[in-house]
Amino acid sequence: MPSISDLRRQMLEDLGIDVWLFRDNTTRDENYWRSLQNKVQTCQSCALSKSRTQTVFGSGNAQAELLLIGEAPGAEEDRQGQPFVGKAGKLLNAMLFSIGLTRDQVYICNVLKCRPPNNRNPLPAEVESCASFLSAQIEFIKPKVILALGRFAAHSLLQTEAPVYKMRENNNVLPGAEIPVVVTYHPASLLRNPEQKAQSWQDLCKVSQLLGIKKG
Ligand code: URA
Repeated sequence: MPSISDLRRQMLEDLGIDVWLFRDNTTRDENYWRSLQNKVQTCQSCALSKSRTQTVFGSGNAQAELLLIGEAPGAEEDRQGQPFVGKAGKLLNAMLFSIGLTRDQVYICNVLKCRPPNNRNPLPAEVESCASFLSAQIEFIKPKVILALGRFAAHSLLQTEAPVYKMRENNNVLPGAEIPVVVTYHPASLLRNPEQKAQSWQDLCKVSQLLGIKKG
């Protein structure tokens, strides 16, 4: 299947617009994204670089309209190098499916790119040292909507300490960018507290509405 950048290249060529490629046939965008991935992969800015098996950059469609942001890789993510592949990830897939989306149609990443040992909470210094990677991802993807999964993602994005139940009722916007941020419970929290699922469904409906997804 042709990639989005192949299709875009073809479309520009069809319009008679010259497309400049790098020697290895990639575009500036692809090179930027790869170099960002490489920076994350080789990052040693904090102590998590010593305990990780590998970094978890993110996965999905880097031109997606919906960007989902979680907290940090867990044990399974650290093993596989992909976000949300454990139990919480299975629930996340089902949540996406409920609004007619698959993982290939969205982009999924975390605030931290490395696993905190024993799944402890991220430390403020770790969040800070990873912040430029997340900002670069947001700036590159330019999503129409961000879905913040849980307290850590919401706090890092919105620079607040408010509890999730309050943030999920607000019309949040990413500071410095006009991107709506829908806040919802983390899928791991939904596994522990299934009674939160009804509210999480409302949050997904809000996302669906902001994206202009038609019901049916
Ligand atoms: N929890 C997260 O916040 N992110 C993952 O990638 C997995 C579990």
